[in-house]
Amino acid sequence: MNKQDLIQKLSLVKHVEGGYFSETYRSCLTIDTAREGNQRNLITSIYYLLTKEQPIGYFNKNQSPILHYFHGGSPLTYLILSENGHLERVKLGFDVTKNQVPQLLVPENCWKATILESGEYGLLGEAVSPGFDYRDMSLATPDYFRSHFPQLWSELAPYVKS
Ligand code: GUN
Repeated sequence: MNKQDLIQKLSLVKHVEGGYFSETYRSCLTIDTAREGNQRNLITSIYYLLTKEQPIGYFNKNQSPILHYFHGGSPLTYLILSENGHLERVKLGFDVTKNQVPQLLVPENCWKATILESGEYGLLGEAVSPGFDYRDMSLATPDYFRSHFPQLWSELAPYVKS
């Protein structure tokens, strides 16, 4: 199996954040929220793939907490940045002896970037509740990061989509 097989067999398409994804589940139950447009599906799930050629999921945040599940390939590094500037680095993977975690929760309203540092590909799953809606998601901009996280800017700039 190679990354082309994964892209084809899992019907993955390019994501605006970088990498590839396909939605695997969207609950038909809906809930009322205080968000723009109010109604959201109860839960959604996706596959997400980074490859050597598309190695970065650029900084983005969501109003919902997002669970990440390692599925296979090479481990993936997460940069998780809270709005108060606290930066954490976590590796999603199976090798718990190397401090990797098979599951990772990124809390709501935390910025996250995902990086494939080596290897051909890394495949993961994400589940989010309330379910995914573009109105709940923000992609970081250089202007915002430069002004809100000036001390971190040089470290984070490669992972902010320009
Ligand atoms: N559509 C575009 N991005 C996403 C995502 O991250 N999750 C889901 N469920 N759908 C999407």
